Amino acid sequence: QADGYKLWLKYDKIENSELLNEYAEIVSSIYFKDDNDILKNAKKEFSLALPQMLNKQVKYSSNISSDNSLIVDVYENLPNDLKDLVGNDIEVLTDEGFIIKSLTYKKKSITIISAKKNIGILYATFRFLHLMQTHKKLKSIDLVDSPKVDLRMLNHWDNLDRSVERGYAGFSLWNWQKLPEYIDQRYIDYARANASIGINSTVLTNVNANALVLTPMYLEKVEALANVFRGYGIKVYLTARFSAPIEIGNLETSDPLNPEVEKWWSNKVAEIYKRIPDFGGFLVKANSEGQPGPQNYGRNHVDGANMMATALKPFGGNVIWRAFVYSEHDDTDRAKQAYDEFLPYDGKFKDNVLVQVKNGAIDFQPREPFHPMFGAMKKTPLVIEFQITQEYLGFSSHLVFLPKLFEEVLDSDTYQKGKGSTVAKVIDGSLYGNTLSGIAGVANIGTDLNWTGHPFAQANWYGFGRLAWDPDLSSEKIADEWLRATYSNNQDFIEPVKNLMLTSREAVVNYMNPLGLHHIFDTGHHYGPGPWVDNLGRPDWNPVYYHQADANGIGFDRTPSGSNATEQYASYLEKTFNDINTIPEEYLLWFHHVPWDYKLQNGNTLWDGIALKYQEGVNDVTHMIQTWDNAKPYLNDSEYNEVKMLLQIQLKEAKWWRDACLLYFQTFSKKELPEGVEKPT
Ligand code: GCU
Repeated sequence: QADGYKLWLKYDKIENSELLNEYAEIVSSIYFKDDNDILKNAKKEFSLALPQMLNKQVKYSSNISSDNSLIVDVYENLPNDLKDLVGNDIEVLTDEGFIIKSLTYKKKSITIISAKKNIGILYATFRFLHLMQTHKKLKSIDLVDSPKVDLRMLNHWDNLDRSVERGYAGFSLWNWQKLPEYIDQRYIDYARANASIGINSTVLTNVNANALVLTPMYLEKVEALANVFRGYGIKVYLTARFSAPIEIGNLETSDPLNPEVEKWWSNKVAEIYKRIPDFGGFLVKANSEGQPGPQNYGRNHVDGANMMATALKPFGGNVIWRAFVYSEHDDTDRAKQAYDEFLPYDGKFKDNVLVQVKNGAIDFQPREPFHPMFGAMKKTPLVIEFQITQEYLGFSSHLVFLPKLFEEVLDSDTYQKGKGSTVAKVIDGSLYGNTLSGIAGVANIGTDLNWTGHPFAQANWYGFGRLAWDPDLSSEKIADEWLRATYSNNQDFIEPVKNLMLTSREAVVNYMNPLGLHHIFDTGHHYGPGPWVDNLGRPDWNPVYYHQADANGIGFDRTPSGSNATEQYASYLEKTFNDINTIPEEYLLWFHHVPWDYKLQNGNTLWDGIALKYQEGVNDVTHMIQTWDNAKPYLNDSEYNEVKMLLQIQLKEAKWWRDACLLYFQTFSKKELPEGVEKPT
């Protein structure tokens, strides 16, 4: 198989003999119950991984006894004396949690893996193997872990013709033409990879997809995928086009309050559940960027979402209703529109509706302040939507470690219920005691041999899953885990390359959108700079709308003298953002229109500061290349070359960004480039 196909599930042989002995002892005699699909898959993973890592076959025994070195089973199947030994730890678990523990059982040292449900055993299996793969001591392990978020979802923006909107890693994995009969090994490996990091839901289709996927011809194929994913604890969701009753149901309307329409959706839902009893539900993009929705009939988001929620409720399904709305007919600052539109509906949605909100108020920029809806919408469970695919971050050509961005947003304090009201607490439901919680990531996966195009983009899929499981994990730990499982456990490799990953996000901010600049990408494709574009049909798509550069300065005034978007934040933040002396400089031009001569904290003028940031971004990429060169001894030739070539593209394009943006902004500032900034050639 090509480098990269196996992702972080490589299971390389353990070369360290001390660890090898320790692990071999722990798994010398395994009891592993496998009387259902999920446990069978867990055991299969064991049987694949252990012989590779330990270089010998493993022995399974058929009875639980103290002669086993490792016992793997759900709690209710354990003999009473073992139950007594692990009881307290099991009680604190959620249905998806697990324990991995070293115990003394009948005077013998054993390890036990247990959980309330089968899915916990699968997650524990992957974690146990990961700990081995990352060379962790397991002799006196005491691990009790449960996911903090309920719905840990990938959103595929995959169309039925297998093109992927904003996809940079080949075509859609779903081979609709060969389904349902042909089950590609990729579906199984996709499910393994997701289960290994705890992802438990997948939306197969694009938010802009047509309604065809809801017809029997496609549902039969969806069913086949759901049958594969079920064994890995993954539920399937579909996007539901609001006008489906017209397009595939022969109705004349899709008015959510029309009884025929309600009936159509109820029947459609029943039809889906007949095929897929654990179907997750619908993801809906309505009245957003031209998509149909309830407003076409004078109704609102609550009417639309609740109508679908009513249809799904008897089967336990959810509606995930997106809040990515902004209208060209509304001249309010785009950053304010979703909050303005949705806040009045707080508390009005049915309890199986979740509202999905992008991490920032514009659109997946290299850096945005957190979306003001987080923390403000107190009675509605909010799903945070991150973009794992790098639409505004250099596609799959640039190395950008996104967990750094995700972490920054999750750690942001909304102050909506006093200090410490972080976005993570909004999302995991702990701030307002939601009964349902969720995190979604727009997938970066496709048919490329290595799944994600850039080898390091795998780390963004991996890291998304880990943060969805535990939004409080650090990006540093995630980078460390991923590098060990993917490349090498050698500390001399890990430390510098981890540092490369952790600095890569700031690098891209520096060379694309420093100091709070945003949405200055070239039109449509969003690859490369286009700050000069001002001729699009909709003003709110033009980069000039966002940077507002003129002879006086640059930046979008969102304080009370401008759009007053700051009023949507809690009062402490509103004040902090309004005051140019207290605003964190990374958000300066997001909230303020600032004179070119304004003095930054480091004493530079704004103009010099912007220019130096662009240069810093270029320098950052140069350092990334040096680090990668130094890592060469730990890599095989193709691993080294692939990333090296991509980093060279990244360097070339970092310079392109710097030169294009500075030359353009210079036409307003009329100032020389400061010392230290390379002159454009
Ligand atoms: C962005 C992206 C679109 C996408 C939209 C969405 O605007 O460019 O491709 O459809 O977000 O999230 O709905």
